[in-house]
Amino acid sequence: MSVSIVVGVQWGDEGKGKVVDYLTEQADLVVRFQGGNNAGHTLVIDGQKTALQLIPSGILRPGTRCLLASGVVLNPFSLIEEIDRLAEINVAVTPDRLGIANNVQLILPYHLAVDRGREAELAGGKIGTTGKGIGPAYEDAVSRCGIRLCDLFDARHLSSLVERNVAQKNAYLSRVLGTSDCFSAAELLLELNRLAEFLRPYATDVSIEVSEAVKAGKEIVFEGAQGCLLDISHGTYPFVTSSNTVAAYACVSAGVGPQIVDSVVGICKAYCTRVGSGPFPTEDFGVDGQNLREAGREFGTVTGRPRRCGWFDTAAVKKAVRLNGIDSLVITKLDVLSGFKKVRLGTAYTIDGVEVNDIPVSPDAQDRLQVVYEDLPGWDEDITAVRKFSELPLNAQKLLTRIEELSESRIVGFSVGPDRVQTIRM
Ligand code: GDP
Ligand code: IMO
Ligand code: MG
Repeated sequence: MSVSIVVGVQWGDEGKGKVVDYLTEQADLVVRFQGGNNAGHTLVIDGQKTALQLIPSGILRPGTRCLLASGVVLNPFSLIEEIDRLAEINVAVTPDRLGIANNVQLILPYHLAVDRGREAELAGGKIGTTGKGIGPAYEDAVSRCGIRLCDLFDARHLSSLVERNVAQKNAYLSRVLGTSDCFSAAELLLELNRLAEFLRPYATDVSIEVSEAVKAGKEIVFEGAQGCLLDISHGTYPFVTSSNTVAAYACVSAGVGPQIVDSVVGICKAYCTRVGSGPFPTEDFGVDGQNLREAGREFGTVTGRPRRCGWFDTAAVKKAVRLNGIDSLVITKLDVLSGFKKVRLGTAYTIDGVEVNDIPVSPDAQDRLQVVYEDLPGWDEDITAVRKFSELPLNAQKLLTRIEELSESRIVGFSVGPDRVQTIRM
């Protein structure tokens, strides 16, 4: 039996989906534990690309059951679209393949309108959200007015919840955000009642399922979304997502105790990217940044936005190791660095000449943050066909060894291309 948690170490899009798919060859359960369809997890198998947003990345392994735990925010309309997209490639997401926590919070159309309205209001100070209503849905959960999956199955209760929420959101949208959005409670209810029939067979008690799987000695992989530096508590606030992305939240969300966890695997790119606003100390605004974007095809899976690109930030990775309890790292996209004369590693930060070991929390200090770099020689060889560490050019081997030393964590794998077969265990 083993229970592992896979988390992003940087600002998301590290290749978590690809690694989860790789790790789930033998897994019985794959559990998504936070975020919603702001995530975009890409799997490439035999050249065929599948982009998942909500459905866990174990879905392409026929023997694996996938679960969405309570800490996820679920847009039911998007879920159905995703199920339909998978059906087109002959993946049947039936209730025996996917279970959804009864107590999962729903993202409803007014959440998207609030998300968009807020961003418009912030103008120059935008967070750069994915516009999927993630923050507003988590807000409703915390303020105890959210609508959960189980509420869909109680028509009278649902009706009063929808009426109250729609009235409040319409007032907020028009009077506070000044938008022209206006929702009809009756129409939304009609749609939700229709959805309820479809979704009912998927509803499950995730806490009981996971606990029983642990007792039965099954193999369980928890799949994180976003990345450590987007964590609502520990990330670069306010430029973060609205959930805890760190590993500890997997247990909170699934409703199990932390003693079940055997390992925490951190995924990071061999360089660094970020979508949306906020501090990014090792961002490269020059030609190297552009070359990383082009070579790494760094455009968002969900929104298509160009990702900001820069260098590997060891201080940030060390922070993620500490915050998540990461015991092993997988370095992705090593192939993207082929052709760079030198490869930079951010090793420390300074503010006014004084070394600091973390991105400071105050915006003023963040503006004065400088990065100390170590430059390593690059390599020219195409490494996409490499299948062993020893087949890597010497300078690529040295880079991984140096990342391991500086990050104070063990590298257990690396990847040299998007395909399942291009992930290499060390
Ligand atoms: P996730 O959100 O962490 O699952 O990552 P995304 O799927 O959003 O972004 C990672 C992107 O890089 C996807 O397009 C992957 O297909 C691609 N990718 C993953 N690993 C590698 C790799 O080792 N090399 C290259 N070139 N692309 C990769
Ligand atoms: P995966 O799982 C990269 C970013 C958004 C924005 C901030 C808040 O694919 O790694 P939100 O819509 O969550 O309120 O946006 O978080 N963001 C991501 N960036 N990868 C993701 O997910 C992200 N999910 C959210 O760009 O800056
Ligand atoms: Mg992604």
